[in-house]
Amino acid sequence: MKVLKTAKEVREHYRVSVLRNPGFVPTMGALHEGHLSLVGRATGSCRMTAVSIFVNPTQFNDPDDLLKYPRTLDADLQMLSGVLRENDFVFVPSVEEIYPEPDTRRFDFGDLERVMEGAHRPGHFNGVAQVVSRLFDIIRPSCAFFGQKDFQQLTIIRELARREYPKTEIIACPIVRESDGLAMSSRNRRLLGHHRERAGEIYRTLVAASAMLADFEIPEIREFVTDRINMIPDFRLEYFEIVEQDTLKPVRARIGMSPEKKYYGCIALRAGDVRLIDNMEFGLQ
Ligand code: PAJ
Repeated sequence: MKVLKTAKEVREHYRVSVLRNPGFVPTMGALHEGHLSLVGRATGSCRMTAVSIFVNPTQFNDPDDLLKYPRTLDADLQMLSGVLRENDFVFVPSVEEIYPEPDTRRFDFGDLERVMEGAHRPGHFNGVAQVVSRLFDIIRPSCAFFGQKDFQQLTIIRELARREYPKTEIIACPIVRESDGLAMSSRNRRLLGHHRERAGEIYRTLVAASAMLADFEIPEIREFVTDRINMIPDFRLEYFEIVEQDTLKPVRARIGMSPEKKYYGCIALRAGDVRLIDNMEFGLQ
């Protein structure tokens, strides 16, 4: 595995290895098994794999969150060296390499960015689109792997690729969870011990809420989720929405749901000062 820092080094690597258009896994580092599952999918299906590690300042609407974001580059490279092959590479650019000038591009994703994370983190998806497009321009991937964990991000990246990177296939990968159901996240390592102990309840709440769909109306399910999360000391629900796949349109009543469509229950909350998100498919039957 190579560690490359600039777009020029990436071009040179493509030239000498006589391969290009790798499978690509963009990350912000602090890697865990969730990230590694994406890398495994890439190495399993592509002749060359690229993983990027870049904590992208433009997608953090909260400066404190950017400051506290875990940075564990040595451990990350150690983990990747166990799974990447000789021609694969890790791209670790500086902020100046990605943004030689401030990125003033404004992406418009319409209704996709007006709900959930888009509504609660102004500018977040614009920053995600900026960095992903910069990274795609440099890496030129044939396919790129994204986790279902960031469900809305995945939908927005699909839209970005449809518009601007039609040659790059976007591949969705399932959520990897801890043994108590907590979705793996770089932010989990910031949870205080007693918050971590209760965090499995997020998953159990989603499971219980999805089962309620057979007998209860949407407002009742939302009330159940709100109460169950807010009952945990120091946990505060930010939102819970049941949305339609692809359009992310929130469902307000079961009568508006179609058996032909897929729906996801999406949750965001704070456990102490750590913000967590999760989601699960909500079936109609
Ligand atoms: P990051 O949070 O590091 O996540 C990188 C990728 O790993 C994303 O596609 C995310 O959905 C996936 N991932 C994270 N936790 C996962 C889990 N438990 N199971 C499966 N996949 C998981 O998402 C970002 O970085 C950034 O926004 C990025 C796309 C790199 C742009 O800066």
